[in-house]
Amino acid sequence: MSIESPALRRIQPSQTIAVSAKARELKRQGRDVISLGAGEPDFDTPDNIKEAAIKAIRDGKTKYTDPDGMIELKEAIVGKFARENALTYKTSQIHVAPGGKPVIYNALVATLAPGDEVVIPAPYWVSYPDMVLLAGGEPRFVETTAADGFKLRPNSLEAAITPRTKWLILNSPSNPTGAAYSADELKALGEVLKRHPQVWILTDDMYEHLLYDGFKFATIAQVVPELYDRTLTMNGVSKAYAMTGWRIGYAGGPEPLIKAMAKMISQTTSNACSIAQWAAVEALNGPPDFIPERAEAFEKRRDLVVSMLNQARGLHCPKPEGAFYVYPSCEGLIGKRAPSGVVMANDEAVVSELLVGEGVAVVQGAAFGLSPFFRISYATSTEILEDACARIQRFCAAVD
Ligand SMILES: Cc1ncc(COP(=O)(O)O)c(C=O)c1O
Repeated sequence: MSIESPALRRIQPSQTIAVSAKARELKRQGRDVISLGAGEPDFDTPDNIKEAAIKAIRDGKTKYTDPDGMIELKEAIVGKFARENALTYKTSQIHVAPGGKPVIYNALVATLAPGDEVVIPAPYWVSYPDMVLLAGGEPRFVETTAADGFKLRPNSLEAAITPRTKWLILNSPSNPTGAAYSADELKALGEVLKRHPQVWILTDDMYEHLLYDGFKFATIAQVVPELYDRTLTMNGVSKAYAMTGWRIGYAGGPEPLIKAMAKMISQTTSNACSIAQWAAVEALNGPPDFIPERAEAFEKRRDLVVSMLNQARGLHCPKPEGAFYVYPSCEGLIGKRAPSGVVMANDEAVVSELLVGEGVAVVQGAAFGLSPFFRISYATSTEILEDACARIQRFCAAVD
């Protein structure tokens, strides 16, 4: 008899975390391994943010706060939404949790009835389907294509919606593809959503500040105001401010939903760390100049990686609009023989052979619901990326 509950048995451990663990294990054995599996910036948290946390400790800001976030942080978030997204929220419409992940989870657990459906465009961030399953819902995947820029099109959305659809999850720029929706593309999806008032929209805007070639960020509640009353606009400080370890995520949404999420968090994790909340206040209210500087560094890395991967035999790498991921197709390697002699039947085999053969850790497309692809996180130095891409080219050249 398994110790696991029926709900837990519905889900898998995170495959992206599994890849990082496998790469670490090989490193421990003395192998020269480059890990391009993890989704976190290599930059450090800026000093002014660290100082705000140190000051919070010195000032004794070390007690419980309101379970769904302290008022000072909620005010900073209201300011951020108004300034950057032209979205008006009151502090009573804001939810703060220990990371973006729990914000999404709290929203799903607070609202899903057994059998409710959640439309998830594929490829998707690994955690969405499992969080839906844990919350008792049913993920409904809609595959996108590289030709469509890995973006959900209105007719596919229309076809996926049923009377049981409770949520649509949008993520722009996307993990794992880097694809981002323009205002016009969101408006076209909005036209479909306006016809289906039972559908709520959860938009995950975590990578908002990582956009390239002058691409302008848009979020659905801003560009389709008719959907404001059923949209949860989720964001966080993890990626833009290089604060993955601090664990602060937040969202703005309609009051009844935010109240339901507050009820949920009050009986589970309770508040995010008070010190990290003060650091997030400084992140959102402090000088933002480092954000475009870092985005520029990411843009150069994207260009390097896309160019080098497109010179590898059997790979095709689209150029994404944002985030710090690329999602190349490895269709040209499927059915071929790796240098070890193994015939690679799918993207999982490609990824495994690449790790064993050349010591480069990436994540198979199967983990994100669309094969045969793999995801590379380019949130690391140019030197390491050049080395990794040269190894990938060598691996591909040796496949026959
Ligand atoms: C698309 C997306 N949403 C949410 C998160 C979760 O962010 P956090 O680390 O704040 O929980 C991540 C982290 O990888 C992500 O890629």
